[in-house]
Amino acid sequence: MSFIELKKINKKYENAERNSVTDFTLNIEEKEFIAFVGPSGCGKSTTLRMIAGFEEITGGDLYIDGKRVNETAPKDRGIAMVFQNYALYPHMTVEKNIGYGLKNMKMPAEEIKKKVDWAIDILGLEEYRYRKPKNLSGGQRQRVALGRAIVKNQKVFLMDEPLSNLDAKLRVSMRNEISKLHRELGTTTIYVTHDQVEAMTMADRIVIMKDGVMQQVGKPMDLYEHPINKFVAGFIGSPQMNFYNVTVKGEEMTFEDGKKITLPDVVAERLSDHQGELIMGIRGEDIKVDEQNRELYKANVQQAVVENTEVMGNENNLYFTYGGSLTVARVSKYELSQMGDKLEFVFSPTKMHFFDKETEENILEK
Ligand SMILES: Nc1ncnc2c1ncn2[C@@H]1O[C@H](COP(=O)(O)OP(=O)(O)OP(=O)(O)O)[C@@H](O)[C@H]1O
Ligand SMILES: [Mg+2]
Repeated sequence: MSFIELKKINKKYENAERNSVTDFTLNIEEKEFIAFVGPSGCGKSTTLRMIAGFEEITGGDLYIDGKRVNETAPKDRGIAMVFQNYALYPHMTVEKNIGYGLKNMKMPAEEIKKKVDWAIDILGLEEYRYRKPKNLSGGQRQRVALGRAIVKNQKVFLMDEPLSNLDAKLRVSMRNEISKLHRELGTTTIYVTHDQVEAMTMADRIVIMKDGVMQQVGKPMDLYEHPINKFVAGFIGSPQMNFYNVTVKGEEMTFEDGKKITLPDVVAERLSDHQGELIMGIRGEDIKVDEQNRELYKANVQQAVVENTEVMGNENNLYFTYGGSLTVARVSKYELSQMGDKLEFVFSPTKMHFFDKETEENILEK
């Protein structure tokens, strides 16, 4: 049995017309770091709160450490939760804030001190031990909130967008701190975020949700390379994957605006049962502008005019219209073009994804 098991979990809020979460099934192993991602309203927090016990489960079974806990009170489930809008006690110092929950649990003072010292050390808060929250930065406050969760010594951490009110730089550093903490403590963690970069960089496995329904679960790179449908393909990866309406006939792929590309035999063969109208998707980094690739696939070199550029420094995004869609190519800093430049490029042929026009399923990943 896995450490946490969700079996066909459903949630329908009272007075709601439809389910907020439908048939959510997932096994989580001990020590795993799982991220729930998806757009606003897709049911991430609802699922997390059902695991925590703050929200009643309408249907299905939830097991934690071998025990069915559907009706178990939150405090008896062995979980510690970090909320998005954590509230620190303003009149208490950092150490008092961290230890408060333990005092409530009637832990002896000596033991509380030991735990608080440990948390303060592991979170690098020694300097701020006697400060009150109003004299701390956002990142420091965030660490105090994490401290409150880790001292409780629970079996599971549940975190709901814990970094969403920090600025970009702090988020990156806190992201690293949480990952480090997870490596050190090995506590099974479920982490909710709508930021796919956080999910990609922190999680062992990612669960992608849409409209209360799990779309795909897998290791970050598996989702990136093998998205099961167009939604997952578009959600994971930044900039977003490029999509085109195409018609495939044998080796010939025709774009909406009449442009044509010859597919290599291996690709054409795999599409032999899927002739006709499809959606083709390709990531920006698989649109190649370098000489070597243009030479390699020279029969299929395409042209476009650069309409916009995003200069990031290490790499750059070039925007242009092709095949009836706005396209973004991610190129290295050595391949930078200017607005108005003529661009020659190739689609890396084995990196194309094909989706059914009706179901939007990835027809090569079934
Ligand atoms: N107490 C409630 N009563 C009725 N409907 C609710 C309640 N809480 C949430 N919902 C609905 O359930 C759905 C899922 O909400 P949830 O808060 O789980 O989304 P989320 O994925 O966490 O979104 P966000 O990224 O915005 O936090 C939404 O449609 C929401 O409106
Ligand atoms: Mg939420």
